[in-house]
Amino acid sequence: MTQERVDTILRHPVGERVTHWAVAIVFIFLFTSGLALFHPFFFWIASLYGSGQVMRFLHPIAGVLLVLLFYPYAARVWRDNRWTAADSGWVRQMWAFMRKEFHPSDTGKYNAGQKLMFWSMVPLIALLLLSGVVIWQPWFAPVFPPALRRWAALVHAVCSFAMFVGIGVHWYAAYWTRGSIRAMVRGYVSPSWAKFHHPAWYRGIAGREE
Ligand code: HEM
Repeated sequence: MTQERVDTILRHPVGERVTHWAVAIVFIFLFTSGLALFHPFFFWIASLYGSGQVMRFLHPIAGVLLVLLFYPYAARVWRDNRWTAADSGWVRQMWAFMRKEFHPSDTGKYNAGQKLMFWSMVPLIALLLLSGVVIWQPWFAPVFPPALRRWAALVHAVCSFAMFVGIGVHWYAAYWTRGSIRAMVRGYVSPSWAKFHHPAWYRGIAGREE
């Protein structure tokens, strides 16, 4: 095995990995319990969490936990998600990229697709929290007028759906990019992986090491 293929580059420090997977687990609970609360068709999911009452009690608490986990994580990674001219070029060539007909040489630590996911989660999670507080029975909901509660329920459902689509794409892209999930589990990537998927990031690291 050549040195190029050995995982020697740190991509995700341990604190970021632990927080990322905690966010993912909380998201899966929120999404499945949210579905059960949204429509009777999905109510069977409640049995996975003990009972409907337990699940209903835990759902908003998990929402607060998501906020407490996600924003500190976002504060750590936002710099690598700053938009660049190269990202606009990536978006224009997105379909060619997916068909493997275009391979950018100026992608930084995250590509434009990852950055779009990141920046859409920042307001979506805040909106989910705010709308969730307004419909949180029996604690906060009685404080708000019924019309506002109806709007909040709508905002909550729309944002959950958008988040489901965003994370669905994120999950699929992670699966599609070989070595990416391993990087989020073990933390390290090989120089050839970094050079291929994130060449500008790799050049930055190589430059620092020289
Ligand atoms: C549900 C299963 C999930 C899987 C399998 C997954 C997988 C991954 C993987 C493999 C990476 C590393 C990508 C790379 O190194 O290039 C990553 C990064 C990331 N993930 Fe996830 N993830 C999941 C859920 C979530 C959720 C729920 C959120 C937030 C709400 C999230 C937010 C992020 C962020 C912010 C990054 C860093 C990328 C960036 O900042 O642009 N992930 N994820």
